[in-house]
Amino acid sequence: MLKRILLAIVGLVVIGGGGFLWYAWWPGIPKISPPAAGSFPAAKIERGRIVAAQGYCAECHTRTDLGGGPELAGDYRMVTPFGDIFSPNITPDPETGLGNWSEAALRRAMHYGVSRDGHHLLPAFVYDHFTKMSDADISDLYAWIMTRKPEKMTPRPNGFPLSITPRIVMAGWKMMFFTPGRYVNDPKHDAQWNRGAYLAEGASHCGSCHTPRNLAGAEKTGHAYNGSVVDGWIAPPLNATNPTPTVWTEEELFQYLRNGVAPLHGPAAGPMSPVPHSFLSKIPESDVRAIAHYFAWVDHAKEREAGDTKALATAMEASRKDLTGFQTDPDARLYQGACAACHYNAAPSPVLGRPELALNSALWLNEPTNLYLVMLRGISNEEGQSGVVMPSFYKALSDKDMARIAAWLRRTRTTLPPWTDLEHKAAEARKLVEQSPVNASH
Ligand code: HEC
Ligand code: HEC
Ligand code: HEC
Repeated sequence: MLKRILLAIVGLVVIGGGGFLWYAWWPGIPKISPPAAGSFPAAKIERGRIVAAQGYCAECHTRTDLGGGPELAGDYRMVTPFGDIFSPNITPDPETGLGNWSEAALRRAMHYGVSRDGHHLLPAFVYDHFTKMSDADISDLYAWIMTRKPEKMTPRPNGFPLSITPRIVMAGWKMMFFTPGRYVNDPKHDAQWNRGAYLAEGASHCGSCHTPRNLAGAEKTGHAYNGSVVDGWIAPPLNATNPTPTVWTEEELFQYLRNGVAPLHGPAAGPMSPVPHSFLSKIPESDVRAIAHYFAWVDHAKEREAGDTKALATAMEASRKDLTGFQTDPDARLYQGACAACHYNAAPSPVLGRPELALNSALWLNEPTNLYLVMLRGISNEEGQSGVVMPSFYKALSDKDMARIAAWLRRTRTTLPPWTDLEHKAAEARKLVEQSPVNASH
């Protein structure tokens, strides 16, 4: 009896292992000679440019440290808990880029996370989202990529432990966490909603930063848009748990995603900044409206909007008190000296370029991280509203000063419990700014 059970187990393992190998093994796709640039119609290339902007390809495939690199030539450094990842060259250079790739090879990479030669790709190349993209979009994307300037460049090798992890391990990861499949229209919703969902869930992969991840680095799909951490920044929740006192309405979302600044909520800074500035401002407006429409549904804006008038009045009142009240509280005086010159507003609503801190998510998140990062690095000309900057307080404020300002803002501008361990967290944020290339002070 025991022997039969053992045999059955061995049989299952053999069949299972065989099944795994069958699942894990992908053939190479033959090399082609690079297609002539003239073989693609101009309209197709232009559509491909838009798809590439919807998917921020240039953001992750262009080196930003070491003084930068040619566009799409790769070697962009992504810091992950599993070691640094350096992205490949996706210019049409035949030796170091995608020059020998057929359209079928690009489609397979986007839809299944498998490279042309058959090796499994890391999910840092968000194919868990790109798998939702249509064949037509990828065909246009191929035309755009193959008509870019070829650049010879080989990325740096990945860091430890990724550098020694066999690629076959990725097949196991995929089996557990990756479901390939195109986006399917939801007939319960209209065309604009479906367009927004197609872009947000697919090419624009908003969830890759705004959805929390499990220990294996996969998005927790049951907690979609609950907020997460990226490059040390908190990417706030985009669902109804977003904590800002005024709701992210369809119009606020549109302004933020299109222009990088929302009248009530403030600027898109840090890792969010390129999303509007380098990409969503360069695609058809109707696509950005569709994404805003979709997220106004995700965060139940319509049902929650009623409280906005009161929240706005409360915020304006707190700002007015700062202007008129004689401040005896030393923390209030510290804030007035450092911040109030720019962050004051009078009723009825904040002036664009002068964000009302009482309405900004930095004060309402569970941790003071974003508030600290903004104080330490300031906000550059390229972030938020163009032409408007916030200076860095890296030198002007000590960790203790920052902690006092944070505590005071939290106390006077929100209805939430105080943050804890503030001085220690200020020191941590300072370390992050010193060490990370993306957060380097300006
Ligand atoms: C969030 C960052 C990120 C974005 C956005 C991104 N990529 Fe990548 N991509 C990567 C990384 C990292 C890899 C390497 C994965 C690996 O080494 O296994 C990669 C790999 C690839 C590969 C495989 C190349 C090879 O040699 O095997 C292709 C093709 C590719 N990306 C194309 C694109 C296109 C097209 C877009 C835009 C639609 C895009 N990527 C957007 C990070 C990104
Ligand atoms: C590379 C990571 C990344 C991607 C991709 C990304 N976001 Fe963000 N997002 C962030 C971070 C970080 C912040 C916080 C920025 C700040 O405080 O200025 C943010 C802020 C936001 C905010 C403001 C929330 C608040 O309450 O302050 C909205 C709205 C938003 N993102 C929507 C989106 C949408 C929609 C997409 C997809 C089209 C998207 N994001 C893609 C990282 C990202
Ligand atoms: C010289 C003017 C100026 C001073 C002083 C200033 N800020 Fe700002 N701050 C700005 C501007 C302008 C923006 C919006 C930038 C944009 O839209 O491009 C901003 C944005 C912010 C944001 C929103 C960031 C985001 O990503 O949503 C926070 C939080 C903030 N400031 C906090 C502070 C604090 C705290 C102080 C005092 C230590 C301070 N600021 C001092 C001008 C200033």
